[in-house]
Amino acid sequence: MHPIDELAQKAQQIMSPAAWAYLEGGAVDGITLRRNVDRYSELGLLPRVCVDVSAQDLRRTLFGIDLPHPILLAPLALQRLFAPNGELDSLRGARQAGAAAVISMESSVATTELADEGVPFLQHLYMQTDRELTLDLLRMAEGAGARGIVLTLDNPVPGIRYRQDAAMRGLPSDVRRANLESGGVPKLTGGYLDASMTWKDVAWLAGQTDLPVIGKGILRADDARKALDAGVGGIVVSNHGGRNLDSVAHPIDCVASVAEAVGQQVPVLLDGGIRRGTDVLKALALGADAVLVGRPYIWGLSAEGAAGVSRVIEILRDELRAAMAMCGAATVDELTSELVVAGGRPGAHPHP
Ligand code: LAC
Repeated sequence: MHPIDELAQKAQQIMSPAAWAYLEGGAVDGITLRRNVDRYSELGLLPRVCVDVSAQDLRRTLFGIDLPHPILLAPLALQRLFAPNGELDSLRGARQAGAAAVISMESSVATTELADEGVPFLQHLYMQTDRELTLDLLRMAEGAGARGIVLTLDNPVPGIRYRQDAAMRGLPSDVRRANLESGGVPKLTGGYLDASMTWKDVAWLAGQTDLPVIGKGILRADDARKALDAGVGGIVVSNHGGRNLDSVAHPIDCVASVAEAVGQQVPVLLDGGIRRGTDVLKALALGADAVLVGRPYIWGLSAEGAAGVSRVIEILRDELRAAMAMCGAATVDELTSELVVAGGRPGAHPHP
């Protein structure tokens, strides 16, 4: 069994059924959830051989952060559901593996506390209907040393998740949304999603900070152009881990057109279904500058704490490094779209 799958199995045995249902849950029938993982295996690799790859370099500079490899921790909410130390151990694992992290607005350990771990991080945000609260969260993130703000764009309303709803009724009393309360009093009065958010609001947020605002949940080239017009400093091509809209397209099928629309203006990241180093390679080859990994590091966190988180990232990094070498790429910039073919058939490139 693949070591990441082993960690998943172990995590399922450790976690409460409710936490597992929340983590693994997808929207409605889970079509996108399953396809997010399966789609990568339909893309083949067409390696270049006899290239000198004796000096490999996986480094990447993103948002002013020098990273030893292009694999980041995705913003996953409420991690004390999955392990006693929650995000604290995720950050410790990230530090060990040289990964940057995106901290969820809904983290169960406060961002101000996580910042002490010394890991370069971006702060994730949902636009609040209460713009004062949005600004409070932004200032909190700036004060804590965030290197960017990851703004979710694909969630005007909550996803419909039957499995999660059946298993999970509220949060255990010891798991709290630490950034969203003060002295035990919730700062949120209503729901936290703003269904009225448009590009004007994105531009407003971008105008409130010197940090890059990175739009997460973009799948279309025309939306990527609108995001640039709104002043974003980065884009995450994402379908929210298949958790919100079922049947939505796969990020790997959208990243080339988004990357083409964006050019070199801002970094383009991808998340969704990354489970192997070759998945990372395919995403980078088709135009992503880096990837975010979600559920797999939580499996590591639940099964083995901080060491499990670093192990997952290191497995993906080592698989990526080996796959790059065998594809004739010494650096991540040498990963180009000609390395990826539909079903391994040369000339049948699936991307426009
Ligand atoms: C989710 C929300 C928290 O996907 O983004 O569960």
